[in-house]
Amino acid sequence: MVATETSKAGKGTVLLIGGTGYVGDVMRNRMRDAGYAVRLLTRSASNNSRYEREGFQTVAGDITDTDSIVRALSGVDTVVNLVAVIKEKGDATFEKMNYQGSVNVADAARQTGVTRMVQMSALGAGNMPEYPYHFNKWRAENYIKDLGLEYTIFRPSIIFGPGEKAQFVSQLADVVKMAPVIPVIGDGKSKFQPVHLNDVSDAFIKALDDRATIGQTYELGGPEKMTYEDILDEIARTLGKKKPKIHMPPALMQLAVSIMDPLPVIEAPVTKQQLNMLKLDNTTDHNAAPDLVGHELTPLRGNIDYIKS
Ligand SMILES: NC(=O)c1ccc[n+]([C@@H]2O[C@H](COP(=O)([O-])OP(=O)(O)OC[C@H]3O[C@@H](n4cnc5c(N)ncnc54)[C@H](OP(=O)(O)O)[C@@H]3O)[C@@H](O)[C@H]2O)c1
Repeated sequence: MVATETSKAGKGTVLLIGGTGYVGDVMRNRMRDAGYAVRLLTRSASNNSRYEREGFQTVAGDITDTDSIVRALSGVDTVVNLVAVIKEKGDATFEKMNYQGSVNVADAARQTGVTRMVQMSALGAGNMPEYPYHFNKWRAENYIKDLGLEYTIFRPSIIFGPGEKAQFVSQLADVVKMAPVIPVIGDGKSKFQPVHLNDVSDAFIKALDDRATIGQTYELGGPEKMTYEDILDEIARTLGKKKPKIHMPPALMQLAVSIMDPLPVIEAPVTKQQLNMLKLDNTTDHNAAPDLVGHELTPLRGNIDYIKS
């Protein structure tokens, strides 16, 4: 049952699944401020009263439970799915969360006659079983497309911006703060196109506002392509840390992670699969962000002061 009906549905009601995470924290506010009634699917009720005070609807549910999504979709115009894991933990696998979770959302939408779905994918999603994060994102995209929903799919590069909890930039910042040297995995030449969270959120709002986005898969990047080492340098510059950089062979890092992985009390800061992903460039020559957001994109350089806290 929907707990509250506090938001005004000026532009329609959006069910935002994953609206309580890093991306969701910003996106739900921007969607509400853009005139949408935003309903959050929450796994735990602990923050519901705060969300409701802030003008959101809440409904209990879980992406692994299709019936709960069906219930949450009552009266909804558009479903936006942000849920995925970047790191497998317990039974929260890439297959279960990134693929099957999206299948559940799409099936629930189909069942309830909600035709419009906006899906968060990731840059690099593709038919690559050796990269299971990207592979399951790609499988989810295909399922949604084949189901005949009015879909829009977004594939961002790495996302940065305040509020990062164990995200790419903040995790690297933690290493730069604490380690006596700055470890660079491999040659440090893998390329990324970091895109600001506000810009990603604005692209999603454009998808809600503009039906011309239906049937499109958009790649999103920031204004600048940066190597892994460029990002580390910018983090060190922002933090005012002058430490030597040491290139670490990926095989050595894989070994360290293999030793930590099975230990119940030590959670490795990075998984073997994440290390593997660092081999892939994560940039696009078809960046849809400038057209979609309609304003200058925020570069990473000069805009990560939040890592100081
Ligand atoms: N961050 C990036 O750099 C980046 C780049 C490209 C694409 N993406 C994509 O962006 C999306 C959001 O990422 P994020 O960084 O915001 O992730 P996040 O901080 O881990 O947030 C995950 C969200 O999913 C929810 N969730 C997890 N398991 C769930 C379940 N079983 N049922 C219902 N909800 C569940 C979480 O709810 P709780 O609050 O209950 O935990 C939270 O709201 C993901 O699809 C990710 O692949 C991220």
